[in-house]
Amino acid sequence: MRTADQYNFAGKKALVRVDFNVPLDNEYRITDDTRIRAAVPTIHKIMNDGGAVILMSHLGRPKNGPEEKYSLRHLISRLEEEFDTVVRFSTDAVGPEPQQMAAELRPREILLLENLRFHKAEEKGDPEFAEELAKLGDVYVNDAFGTAHREHASTAVIARYFPNDKVMGYVMHAELDNASRILDNAERPFTAIMGGAKISDKIMIIEQLMNKVDNLLIGGGMSYTFIKADGGEVGSSLVEADKLDLAKRLIGMAREKGVKLMLPIDSVVADAFSNDANVDTCLSHHIKPMWMGLDIGPDAREQYADVIANSKTILWNGPMGVFEMSNFSVGTEAVAEAVVEATRRGAYSLIGGGDSAAAVNQLGYADKVSYVSTGGGALLEYMEGKTLPGVAAIERDNY
Ligand code: 3PG
Repeated sequence: MRTADQYNFAGKKALVRVDFNVPLDNEYRITDDTRIRAAVPTIHKIMNDGGAVILMSHLGRPKNGPEEKYSLRHLISRLEEEFDTVVRFSTDAVGPEPQQMAAELRPREILLLENLRFHKAEEKGDPEFAEELAKLGDVYVNDAFGTAHREHASTAVIARYFPNDKVMGYVMHAELDNASRILDNAERPFTAIMGGAKISDKIMIIEQLMNKVDNLLIGGGMSYTFIKADGGEVGSSLVEADKLDLAKRLIGMAREKGVKLMLPIDSVVADAFSNDANVDTCLSHHIKPMWMGLDIGPDAREQYADVIANSKTILWNGPMGVFEMSNFSVGTEAVAEAVVEATRRGAYSLIGGGDSAAAVNQLGYADKVSYVSTGGGALLEYMEGKTLPGVAAIERDNY
């Protein structure tokens, strides 16, 4: 396996799989460009070596072919600003148009292909589609960590057409390095903070972490399934009824393994799922009927901040409340502040992608924590111990 540093791109056309699955607003403006910024060093390396860059990515989950809101065209101006050059755009990822544009591409030029998922063949991992894409470049670079858990044509299958010229980009490398630091070399005390709406998304990772962490702080919607499983009254808070037994089992497992599993002692509650709802604070085990917990409360914030302050390694995945509504964002902000402060005092902190990364970016803390992952599902699967097809395809000779 080669990394970008070990490859000379001079005179080559590099076909680079990036994860430019960035959020866009209603007017197709990018609202978080973290993934674009992350890919910049790999693209610069290729250009500085004297190579040409062909960028390919998916955007969103289009179901029925091309759709304006999923067009990668919306990213052109951001890329042109970043690289201070014209970015050519092919309205299709395969066929005569990109073939001709790729053939005419000169060193240090950039070509962006339209959304790969406008073809169903991409997600099916169709080898013919992968081979068509492969024709565009001399070397394949995979820098799409966020999509490495998908066995798609452009993320995995394509690598077989570049047996001697497949390269791991800088994002991918950094992500694996940081995840390994947590998995293999975590300095204790090690605290994992798990939030988000549903337990079902996090079961496997929580089970894995039970063998590694000292503290497990639970927040977000999923805490109410735990609290109900623990005998609490949670009103109309979000509860996954079919996961109550599992939550009970996880609480028991933590006890057996000596992991300090903490549920928010109090909650910010509301009488509707709205920022305009009536708001109150109460013990999380005693939420009144018709009220729902939408954030961790002030005592929980303090307790969690204390645990975080005494940690040497911190992994955070998932917000503590409905942080996109200002009345329920305080818990997430408090945890972010505590993580920043612990990092400043020497702790290592890894922020898992998705919503917790968005929160950290939004608060301007991205460079005040040790590492913000670009992967949501990919990071979780890697930490669960699964093989990521996008990584395996680059690492193994016989994928
Ligand atoms: C992500 O945003 O997690 C990645 O880009 C993967 O997207 P997907 O879940 O639609 O495959």
